[in-house]
Amino acid sequence: MIISASTDYREAARRKLPPFLFHYADGGAYAEYTLRHNVSDLEQIALRQRVLRDMSELSTATRLWDDELAMPVILAPVGLTGMYARRGEVQAARAAESRGIPFTLSTVSVCPIEEVAPAIKRPMWFQLYVLRDRGFMKNALDRAKAAGVKTLVFTVDMPVPGARYRDAHSGMSGPYGEIRRVLQAMTHPSWAWDVGVMGRPHDLGNVSRYLGKATGLKDYIGWLGANFDPSISWKDLEWIRESWKGPIIIKGILDPQDARDAVSFGADGIVVSNHGGRQLDGVLSSVRALPAIADAVKNDIKILVDGGIRNGLDVLRMVALGADAVLIGRAFVYALATAGEAGVANLLDLFKKEMQVAMTLTSKKSISEITRDSLAIDNLASEVRAIASEKA
Ligand code: GLV
Repeated sequence: MIISASTDYREAARRKLPPFLFHYADGGAYAEYTLRHNVSDLEQIALRQRVLRDMSELSTATRLWDDELAMPVILAPVGLTGMYARRGEVQAARAAESRGIPFTLSTVSVCPIEEVAPAIKRPMWFQLYVLRDRGFMKNALDRAKAAGVKTLVFTVDMPVPGARYRDAHSGMSGPYGEIRRVLQAMTHPSWAWDVGVMGRPHDLGNVSRYLGKATGLKDYIGWLGANFDPSISWKDLEWIRESWKGPIIIKGILDPQDARDAVSFGADGIVVSNHGGRQLDGVLSSVRALPAIADAVKNDIKILVDGGIRNGLDVLRMVALGADAVLIGRAFVYALATAGEAGVANLLDLFKKEMQVAMTLTSKKSISEITRDSLAIDNLASEVRAIASEKA
């Protein structure tokens, strides 16, 4: 199967996956306003086309701390990735490595740290939530360090879970969830065999090793739900900053003041993020939040961003607005569900080609040359605004 755009992977994943899994990845919180705007606000950023400037040599490569990246793209931490393809985290990590970019393992992955890290040579990144069970956090940090992890990503926008109504409708949660999931698996036989049977165990690998017993989807909702900690504050992260030598990235920053606090805390990076529209619906889309945050902290910290990035043109838009790199979540999960490691590798090739075309036609030879002058002043949008304010 040759797929020529990341949107094709979404459609292919929708057909292949049991609905409870497709909608878990595809959905967002409440009315999904922020989820939609992450994509549509980004699409509306007009690129500034320039021509005839000899673009025969250009490079998408960049650097983050000690990491050399073939392009400013990182695979985001996505819980339950191993339910989307057989031992999915290992396949995605291999694809990322083969295309020269980092893979981030989620706390709530199916494959544990000890299964994924040895499958690749490139040190993976590891994501942690701040959880009530600090023993788990300490255990996970020790194991990540032993596995060669240098870069930590702390997700801080989940002190409470946002309600995902699609999950209740799809059978991921809600009444008769278990029986509905079994029925959906039976009617999606290629997934049922490849992942449902051959992809076992479906543990939360990192949690099972800590608890010393098997865990599953029920624990995902139960253990994680019971472990959200609404009392968290910057001081809960201090012990980690003191003991962890490598880069620490704070994920879930949407406000310039929080970005400044991350700098004062001593973070090395932030991810401008609304958790893919999965937490507080109605907040700013990532692309709209980014410019003010870049103005506030651009020279003090690395700025990463996620939310709505579906192709290489979106990467260029985010970099132009101040990001050093982007994280992609759904885009790679759809590719993984469709065609495993080869699907993710192909998706990353598509991103790179799209970036190369965008850089050629905006006349930018390197990532550091991509600035706000890569964007066009959108005359139509400002004319519409002028007319609207005349009428008001
Ligand atoms: C977990 O972080 C999720 O967004 O489902």
